[in-house]
Amino acid sequence: MRIVESPHDMQRICESLRLAKETIGFVPTMGAFHDGHVSLIRAARESCSQVVVSLFVNPTQFGPGEDLTKYPRMSEQDASLAEKAGVDFLFAPTEEMMYPKGYVTFVEVERLTKVLCGASRPTHFRGVTTVVAKLFNIVKPHKAFFGQKDAQQTLVIRKMVEDLNMGIEIVEMPIVREPDGLAMSSRNRYLSLEERKEALVLYRSLTEAQRLIDNGERDARRIIESIERTIRAAPHAQLDYVEVVDAWTLEQLRELKGECLIALAVRIGTTRLIDNTKVNV
Ligand code: PAJ
Repeated sequence: MRIVESPHDMQRICESLRLAKETIGFVPTMGAFHDGHVSLIRAARESCSQVVVSLFVNPTQFGPGEDLTKYPRMSEQDASLAEKAGVDFLFAPTEEMMYPKGYVTFVEVERLTKVLCGASRPTHFRGVTTVVAKLFNIVKPHKAFFGQKDAQQTLVIRKMVEDLNMGIEIVEMPIVREPDGLAMSSRNRYLSLEERKEALVLYRSLTEAQRLIDNGERDARRIIESIERTIRAAPHAQLDYVEVVDAWTLEQLRELKGECLIALAVRIGTTRLIDNTKVNV
């Protein structure tokens, strides 16, 4: 595995890979790897001849007062995990390289970014689409791999790729969970032991919602109320949002129909966690 720091070098390497008819699979990340990241790397490994992973804690997607400075940075462990998972190139630029002095260009996807996580983090997706557009221009991948854990993010990236004719295939991989159901996340390491136990309410509330749907419930309001009840029962959990939306337009649904996304964000103490499930009715 080669570690590349400079965007210019990475771009030159990827251009020559393309000329040599290699297929480039790309996994953008912010590091602190867990099995969720590894599942994306494996999927890229299986369908592409070259795998590029980026590791960059992107400052523009963190709002004021969010966890940018305390976000876990563990580059040596990440490098060895990436190598074990079969990565060919680990692209790890510095902040100055990605956003040099005088940087003023941003990419913004409208509408889809105003709801769910975008409502409570108004500048978040603008930072995500900007950095991912830059990474796509540097890596020029044939395929890029994202997790359903961040379902809204995957959808926003898909829309950007479509609207800006980027010609990259976006692949979404399922949520990887801890044995007890908690969705893996780099932010889980912020949780105290007690909070870690309470964090299970996210998955538990979604499992309960799934049970209601399996028993024939189609009223979105009732599903939301059931999730709200489960979250309220956890003393340190504070619901940011829970919504039942169309999985492709993110428009709110009154009645479950077609491909639906049930998504929620919950604060456990000071840690904000997200989770979701997709149902096809
Ligand atoms: P990060 O949080 O590091 O996540 C990188 C990728 O891993 C994302 O596509 C995310 O959806 C996926 N992922 C995270 N947890 C997962 C899980 N439990 N199961 C499956 N996939 C999971 O998302 C970002 O970084 C950034 O916003 C980024 C796209 C890199 C732009 O900065």
